[in-house]
Parts: sequence; C-alpha cells; structure tokens
Amino acid sequence: MGTKSLCLLIASVLVAYYVYTPIPENIEERWKLMLINAGFRTVGHVAELAEWLGLMHYMEVLMMITSIEYTAPISDENVTVTDIEFDNVPVRLYVPRKQSGGLKRAVIYIHGGGWCVGGSAMEPYDLLSRWTANKLNAVVVSVEYRLAPIYHFPVQFDDVYTVVKFFLQNSVLVQYGVDPNRICISGDSAGGNLAAAVAQQLLDDLQVKVKLKIQALLYPALQTLDLDLPSYKDNENKPILPKSLMIRFWSEYFTTDSSLNEAMASNRHVPAESSNLFRFVNWSNLLPEEFKKDHVYTSPIYGSSRLGKKYPGFLDPRAAPLLVDDTKLLGLPMTYVLTCQHDVLRDDGIMYVSRLREAGIEVIHDHIEDAIHGALMFITSPTDLALGHRVANKYIGWLNMNL
Ligand SMILES: *[C@@H]1O[C@H](CO)[C@@H](O)[C@H](O)[C@H]1NC(C)=O
Ligand SMILES: *[C@@H]1O[C@H](CO)[C@@H](O)[C@H](O)[C@H]1NC(C)=O
Repeated sequence: MGTKSLCLLIASVLVAYYVYTPIPENIEERWKLMLINAGFRTVGHVAELAEWLGLMHYMEVLMMITSIEYTAPISDENVTVTDIEFDNVPVRLYVPRKQSGGLKRAVIYIHGGGWCVGGSAMEPYDLLSRWTANKLNAVVVSVEYRLAPIYHFPVQFDDVYTVVKFFLQNSVLVQYGVDPNRICISGDSAGGNLAAAVAQQLLDDLQVKVKLKIQALLYPALQTLDLDLPSYKDNENKPILPKSLMIRFWSEYFTTDSSLNEAMASNRHVPAESSNLFRFVNWSNLLPEEFKKDHVYTSPIYGSSRLGKKYPGFLDPRAAPLLVDDTKLLGLPMTYVLTCQHDVLRDDGIMYVSRLREAGIEVIHDHIEDAIHGALMFITSPTDLALGHRVANKYIGWLNMNL
C-alpha cells in the first residue's frame, strides 16, 4: 500500500469516526441526520476550543452560529409580521391578514435553546409561528427573552412572565381582536420549561383575570434534581442534545461558575436539606414501566449545601416546574405534552404527564417513538427532515382542533 492510499485510509477512518454517531434503528433519513449531527458536533468542538483558549464563552460561539439563521420581520400575503415590545420586552408579533369577522385565537410562543441561545427570529421558529398564525388564523406572540450567560435565572422567566401578563390584559386583547377564552402558551425545550413555569405562577397572580385555555409543552425541560433519569442514561450520546450539553445549559441558566456544572454532571448537586423535593421527580413512581426498562432506582446522593445556598435558582419551581406541590397543579389549563423517545428530556415530560393526570388535569400526551430532541428545528432547508414536518403538523393540527 502506497503512502498516499494509507493517508487516504486514515483520513477516511477519521471522517467516518467523526461523522458517525449511532443513530437509533427506527429513525428515518439516517444519513442526513448523521451529517446534521456532525455539524452540531463541530460547532460544539469549536466552542470548546474557543473557550479553552480563553477567546470566547462556549455559549457565545453557539449564539454566533444560531444568529446566522436570524430573519427580518417580513410580512407575507397571509400574515403581518412586526418586531415590537410588550412592556419593554421584545416580541415578534404575527397577525393574520384575513378578516374573519369574529375574534381570533392567540398563541404565545417561547422558543428553545437552553436559556442560552436561539431567538424568535431564527428561521425555523419564524416559520413555525407563520404556520401557526396561518393555519389557526391566530395572533402569535413569539417572545424574545434575554439569554445566558449575560443574564441568568430568573431574568428569562421574568421576561416571559412580563410579556404574558401584558398580553393577557383585556385592553390589549381587544386591540388585537383576540378571544380571551382561546389563548394558549406554547414552548419547546427550554421554552417548554418557561411556558410550564409561567402557567403555574399565573395561577397565584390575582392581577391576571384572563385564564389560559391550553399549555403546549414540546419536549420540555422540567426538573433539575435528577440528571440521571433513565432517559438521561439511555440517550446520553444521542444526536443534537447529548447529556453533557443539557447539563451545561442547566448550569449556565443559573451561573457560569463551573462548580455547579461539575456537581450536576456527577448528579451530586442537591443539598440534603432539599431531600424532600425528590419525591416530585421520583421516576420509580412516576414513569410507566415501558420507560423504566432495566433501570434500577437508587436513592439520591446529596451534594454540599454551599451550592444550594449560592444558586438557589436550581431548586426553584420557576426554573424546575416539576418541583411544585400537587396543590399548585390544580387549576392548570388543559395540557398538551409532546415527548421524543431518543431525548434526554423524555422523562421530564412523561413525569409531568403523570403528575398532572394524578392532579386531575386533562392531559394529551403525544409520544413520538422515532423522534430526537429538537425535532421542530428541522423544518427549513438544507437541514429539514421529514420528522420535523411531521411533528410540526401534529402539534399545529392538535392546536387547531383544541384551541
Ligand atoms: C398563504 O395561505 C395560503 C392558504 O393557506 C397558502 O397556500 C400560501 O402558501 C400561504 N402563503 C405563504 C407565504 O405562506
Ligand atoms: C421513590 O419511590 C420508591 C418506590 O415507591 C421509594 O422506595 C423511594 O423511597 C422513593 N424515593 C424518594 C426519594 O422519594
């Protein structure tokens, strides 16, 4: 074998190793997903390198990449799109042009991106909002909340809460011709987390008279306590959202101090004083048998009380909506939960379904067997997947029937 062919062989082994990620058997368009995932991994490696060299924060690199996908607020034949502010928080607003006579429905949408990246202007989110506005003839408010690492919890929560509270005023609903009885809050991933948290906190807010009709939580993150759930173990290295990145997102939501990240990575971050909270995320009780598989429940291992005192946010239900008492679930609106089989966050969503059902809330659970985390992101060329379109149609179709 000549030197050239040997080099070629080594190069192709390296490329194959790099590009190849075990893709679950039941996933379609495997090669396309593998390439997309190689792109995500490259960005991750560049971010690690930039951070290690002291050039940029890890999330700044990710933010730079996602900002390439930002679109201007361009109206089309069906929807008027504007970037405005609700009570000083930026939102992208989609108002259907069709004159339907009666009042319109409304969807408040919270984008994902681990509280650190993403934006309502990103092409897939912009498209999803247009589709929603168009299909439902609904007003869509897509919230542009501030992000980590510049802003930590509770800024993200507060920004979303401010927008929702502003929009739910009767005078504002009248201005946009919205039916106060047909309003939904939706969000995916970190946005699902914020949607769930805001829906809970609204229940205690006496100033807000208008009630949400629906909350739609799309592969949401809902708890910080147990980062070794069966879904975290089974999907540790699945495409798009590996466990290490999810833990980085969680810790970054509260602080850039790496000691929280390290403690979360070994699942020893919760202080013994907060042991009573573990009952809210006890997968031994809250997961149906089919998701437990061979996993064996073990008691939590506690961490130092220093972290809990320094960063109380990770024990706060506004960051981890599963941590509320059952009584706080009463009064929540009808809930749509979408979970993906190959997702570290799968069990967060499933446990919330169990808890809401026990509390008597009407829950519709769509579990997608052949889906990965972030499926809704893959609806624009060149990274579109049939899966993305299928999940988007499922969610918007359900909303159209029920809102
Ligand atoms: C406007 O709505 C019509 C009917 O739903 C649809 O066929 C068309 O593609 C929409 N236009 C845009 C730009 O989305
Ligand atoms: C979780 O549930 C199991 C089974 O019901 C129980 O044995 C265990 O003590 C619970 N753990 C916590 C921390 O609540």
